This record gives sequence, structure tokens and C-alpha cells, in this order.
Amino acid sequence: MLTQDELKTLVGQAALQYVVPGEIVGVGTGSTVNKFIDALASMKDQIKGAVSSSVASTERLLALGIPVFDANEVGELSVYIDGADEIDGRGYMIKGGGAALTREKIVAAQSRRFVCIADESKLVQTLGKFPLPVEVIPMATQRLVRQFAALGGTAKVRMQGSEPLLTDNDQHILDVTGLQISEPLAFESEVNQWPGVVTVGVFAHQRAQVCLLGTASGVKTLNF
Ligand code: 5RP
Repeated sequence: MLTQDELKTLVGQAALQYVVPGEIVGVGTGSTVNKFIDALASMKDQIKGAVSSSVASTERLLALGIPVFDANEVGELSVYIDGADEIDGRGYMIKGGGAALTREKIVAAQSRRFVCIADESKLVQTLGKFPLPVEVIPMATQRLVRQFAALGGTAKVRMQGSEPLLTDNDQHILDVTGLQISEPLAFESEVNQWPGVVTVGVFAHQRAQVCLLGTASGVKTLNF
């Protein structure tokens, strides 16, 4: 029986097959992506470099000798590799457990193909069991808490010690529990236009086209 950590290593390594030699790869954030970054070091001489979705991933890439480009310096990327907190059978995801959702969505939008790497605990029927991360402008926090309450959700500011956690963009995160997101496209569109929302952690418009799922019997490839 493989541990969750071993499953993450497996899918991180399996994602190398989607990296296009000679190109720049979009890189997500999180413990699963860290396995991918470690594996990517083995082919660093075959790629130009990466566009990163967080300070943490940038530091890891650079430490391994992989050049990191600013998103504005490059055009469309062929592939973006990232993890997820939940993924459903259509490739729709909840992301942002690592607070990097805004930059993740930017790099995903800049990429032709999103390859999600996840262990099988992340595969769900309906999104919403994992608390939905939403990056917000602090001034709007309490009004947004009330807007989520009107949808049946309970929103709490993510803390780091006694202070609200600050994202790489110096904003706050609300984690929303109690939602069943059966229409991810409509939900993402609606919440995104609430004033004060920077990014909602539903990735439906930027869904995955492929999921490499780590299971007890090996890596399963789901195409959406
Ligand atoms: C970070 C993310 C991550 O992809 C998500 O939280 C999954 O992380 P992990 O691979 O550590 O389980 O969205 O903002």
C-alpha cells in the first residue's frame, strides 16, 4: 500500500511526459507540485524554464537551477502542471489550499492545457467538501462573509498565528464551508463579480484537460 506522499511522487514524475522539450512550462504550487518540480530538475537542460505561480515554487525552481520567467515576458504556454484540493469527473476543481489561487489561475489561463496531478483522495462527485478558498480585498471581508452566508456557506478568514494570512499578493483568504457546488461554471462566474473578490478557488473556466491520479494500482490518466 503506497502512502499519500508516495502517490504524490508518482504523479509528479508522471507529469514529465507532458513537458514539451525546448519550451517553458507553467508550474503550480503545493506539496504535489513540489514532487513535480523535483522531477523536472532531471530534464532542466531540455527546457527553457518555467513560469511559476507562487514565491514558494519560484524559490524551489531556482534552487534546482531551473530558470523562472515573468508571465509578462512570455506568450502562451503549452502546458500548466498543478495540483488540486478537489477535482470532479469533468475536470472542474477547487484550488487554493496553499493560498496561491490567483497566480495559479493566471498561469492556467495563459496555458493551452492544464494537467492536474493529484492523489485519489482528491477525486469527488461534487465540489464543496473541501473549504472553498477565496482571495479577497480585506476591506470587503465582512460583506463577503454575509454574501456567502446567503448562499448557505460559512466563511472564515484564514489565519497565520494571530494575524490573517497574507497571500503573495498581500490580500486575505476566506475559507468557505457548507457549499455544494453543482454548477461550477455558473458559481465561478457569479462569485468572481462580487466586489472585493480577487479570485474564487473554483477552477471551472480554467478546468483541467487531463488528471494524473495516483491510485493504489498506479497512475490513472483521466481525460476531460
Ligand atoms: C495551492 C493549491 C494546491 O494545488 C492545492 O492546495 C493542492 O495542494 P497539495 O498538492 O499540497 O495537496 O491550489 O494554492
